[in-house]
Formats: sequence, C-alpha cells, structure tokens
Amino acid sequence: MAKGAARRDNPKLAPAPVSFAHSSEEDFARLLDFYGVAWQYEPRSFPLREENGRVAEAFTPDFYLSDLDLYIELTTLQQRLVTEKHRKLRRFQERYPEIQVKLLHRSDYLSLLAKYGFGPFSEVEVAGIHEVLISASELERRIGELGAQLSRDYKGREPLLIGVLRGVTCLMADLIRHVSLPVAIDYMAISSYEGAEGGAVRILKDLDEPIVGRDVLVVEDIVDTGMTLHALLQELAVRRPASLKVCALLDKRARRIVDVPLDYVGFEIPDEFVVGYGLDFRQKFRNLPFIATLKSDWLQAQGRQRARPE
Ligand code: IMP
Ligand code: MG
Repeated sequence: MAKGAARRDNPKLAPAPVSFAHSSEEDFARLLDFYGVAWQYEPRSFPLREENGRVAEAFTPDFYLSDLDLYIELTTLQQRLVTEKHRKLRRFQERYPEIQVKLLHRSDYLSLLAKYGFGPFSEVEVAGIHEVLISASELERRIGELGAQLSRDYKGREPLLIGVLRGVTCLMADLIRHVSLPVAIDYMAISSYEGAEGGAVRILKDLDEPIVGRDVLVVEDIVDTGMTLHALLQELAVRRPASLKVCALLDKRARRIVDVPLDYVGFEIPDEFVVGYGLDFRQKFRNLPFIATLKSDWLQAQGRQRARPE
C-alpha cells in the first residue's frame, strides 16, 4: 500500500500492509494494534514555510490516532536529529496551535505500554493474554451509543435494568451512566448446573423486587450458547413484566444453540474465549479495561477443561 494511505481503523478486521520508513514506526504500529488503538500512518503533511508561493518546508507527523485526535511523532535516539525535530515541532505548534501533536521517544512508548501492566514489549506481561479484541475506547464509544439508543427507545418510561452477575459489573456501571432517563437496577445470579444433565440453570440470587408491569431490560455481558439467557427469560416472563428485552455487550453468535432474541448488541465476536471488562476465566482478568483473548497454549495448560467461569 502506498505510503501515507495506510489506515487501520480496526486492526482486527482489516489488517493492511504498510511500508514504514523505520522499524521503530513498525514497532509502534504493532503496539497500537495490540491495544486496538486506531491509527493512520503519515496521513497528512503540514506546510511550515513557503518560498515564492511554494512549500519550502513541511512537517509530516508519523501517526494520527483518530480516537484521541492526536498526531504522534516518533524520535530516534540520535541527538542531532532530535534537536532538528524539536525545532520543527516548535514551528508547527506556532502555525497550527489547534492541532495536538506529541513527540514520543522510544523510551516513552515503552513505558506507555508498561503502564497498562502488560504487553509483548513490556517487562510485566499478564500470563495468558493473547491480544486485545476490543479496546477500552471502542467499548466506551459503543456503550455510549447503546445508552443513547436506550434513552430514545424507553423515552417516557422508567426501565428496570436487570444485570446478570458477575460478568456484567463493568457494563452495568458504564451503561447506566449513558442512559438519560430514570432507571432502576437489580441483579440476579445464576449458575449453570454442572451435573450430568448440563444446561440447566439455578437461581443463586433472585431479584429484590417484583417486576410485574415493569419495563424490564436484561443486561448480559456475553451470550454464548444462549442457554443461560433462554432459561432466564422464561423465568422472568412468568412474572408478567410489561415488556422484556435484552441488551448483551458481546454476541458469540457462531456458538448459539438456543435462539434467543437480542434487542441490543454491543459487538458480535468470533468463537473465542474472551476475558476482561468484567468477564473472567476462573475469576481472573475481570479488571482488565478491555476485552482480550487468551493464548490457546496457556488455556490448554490450564487442564484442557472447557472454560466455564460461572
Ligand atoms: P451461555 O448460556 O452459553 O450463553 O453462557 C453464557 C455465560 O457463559 C455468560 O454469561 C458468561 O458468564 C459465560 N461465558 C460464555 N462465553 C464466555 C467467554 O468467552 N468469556 C467469559 N465468559 C463466558
Ligand atoms: Mg454471565
């Protein structure tokens, strides 16, 4: 692909080859991909100085991060070039004060990674994590959209959001803050029955309040086979709510066994076990701020058991 035209708004869906001028740029792009941060390589040149009506000097930042509306210029370790870059950058900022640009030294972006607690370039890696499937900023944006949609659809009503514990923790907290209506919340805990029959669910914690005549929205972290949700919806329908709908952050449609209607879906994801943003593997990884996949060899080393966190 031609230099300057490269774009990877969603690296998981559309990986495109890019010819980088330096290997440090390629490292940085891989780092951004790893964290699911959208980037464009050298998308724009900014004129810095004109002579006889022609551009005599221009500045072309290495990256543009659209999520952050930020240009990034990477520096090499050679002091001579760093000094020249600082000069260009000062001129740039005088001429384009409204544009955000950040100069990153190699050591800066290595520590940037370490800040997140893990990564292939960092010293402290979280064992088991393969890659980020949905970044924190993608989650934030999509949940904002869902909240806005709920606010429109439930206008004039006061929905009761029912969260299914425990994976829904992060989603519920973020979602309700994007709903501009009075809402009530309640929680249920259910467990897959791990006996010979399989598939059956038990209610471990029931709702605190009756739902008869209420507009109920079940909030789920992830729908996999659909069996848990199916059983739950049957149970709730018996209690005669005014309406009963479902909002699921993740839809692993490829694995569906029972066809459950999902009214609101955050993301459709491939058939891979995911963790983070509330989702766990044996109670671990819930506190990651993004959704990530696990390394298959790591999963296998956990005893080749089917992952069934709750
Ligand atoms: P289902 O009955 O197969 O749809 O299972 C749904 C439940 O299984 C979810 O509420 C999760 O608790 C759990 N689950 C399914 N897939 C995953 C995953 O990829 N990561 C973490 N938990 C999962
Ligand atoms: Mg769950």
